[in-house]
Amino acid sequence: IKKIGVLTSGGDSPGMNAAIRAAVRAGFYYNLEMYGIYRGYEGMIQNDIKKLHSGDIAHVLERGGTFLKSARSADFRTTEGRQKAYNNLKSHGIDALIVIGGDGSLTGAHLFYKEFGIPAVGLPGTIDNDLSGTDATIGFDTACNTAIQAIDKIRDTATSHDRLFFVEVMGRDAGFIAINAGIGSAAAAILIPEKKMAIEELVEKLRIRTKAKKASNIVIVAEGGKSGGAAEIAEKVKKHLPYYDIKVTILGHLQRGGAPSSYDRLLASKLGVSAVEGLLQGKYDVMAGLINHKVVYTPIKRAIVDDKEVDEDDFRVAKILST
Ligand code: F6P
Repeated sequence: IKKIGVLTSGGDSPGMNAAIRAAVRAGFYYNLEMYGIYRGYEGMIQNDIKKLHSGDIAHVLERGGTFLKSARSADFRTTEGRQKAYNNLKSHGIDALIVIGGDGSLTGAHLFYKEFGIPAVGLPGTIDNDLSGTDATIGFDTACNTAIQAIDKIRDTATSHDRLFFVEVMGRDAGFIAINAGIGSAAAAILIPEKKMAIEELVEKLRIRTKAKKASNIVIVAEGGKSGGAAEIAEKVKKHLPYYDIKVTILGHLQRGGAPSSYDRLLASKLGVSAVEGLLQGKYDVMAGLINHKVVYTPIKRAIVDDKEVDEDDFRVAKILST
């Protein structure tokens, strides 16, 4: 392997820049040529590919977003699109890839390896934390910190007005951000897709808290919940608790931005280096992750299987603390 292409794809996450920088630095350390593929697989198809120099990665470690930009490519799902992408890679002499993204992005890398034999190492880049083979994905810790800071602010005004707030957090169909931010912000209840909570149970919980004269009530709702988002849940609860002044806040994309936390910088840096080293050691079609502080390479096919579960104990702790 002499030339490696790096791309970020799917929803961006804080720490992607740090991961790119680490991979490119490691590539230079091992005397490789490093290429930036802009706008993910879309840029690969449109030949938006440039050789990277050390100046390109100066002062990016601490910045949110991804300077390589990101996209969700519909064309890469087609055989013609992937063929075009392959031709472009070959025209640059790129013989391996580092793909930073979530399950869709890593699925693309896996398919591409199967079809064209382009060795790839994936890095888990998503705020959702929904990939197996790593304790945390790059950006998850920052997103949780951002959510907690926002919820702290909501609590100030919720307490001043004796209001009940429903705060919706991201996570697609996973509840990792919700459970983490919920525990970290002393939520009255946390609704996640993985655990059903009947409206009656939630209402009862809120009634008990009212009797106990709790200063404020904030319910965290994961966006992918089966009973609906924060607005729908609030609507249903309102019917049972009409005397409550209820407000809804959807945190949305602010959870995806901002400077990466210390943990995400370390995680991204370790994984960026491991991606290059993995390729040099012949580890193809794998995702590099961190488990118990050790780098682990997991076959991409295994990493994208949707079986990473919210820790039962986190849920138990959240329940105890919100009673
Ligand atoms: O996967 C990251 C994520 O932020 C999810 O939490 C969210 O459901 C989705 O992306 C939003 O995607 P988009 O930015 O395309 O609206």
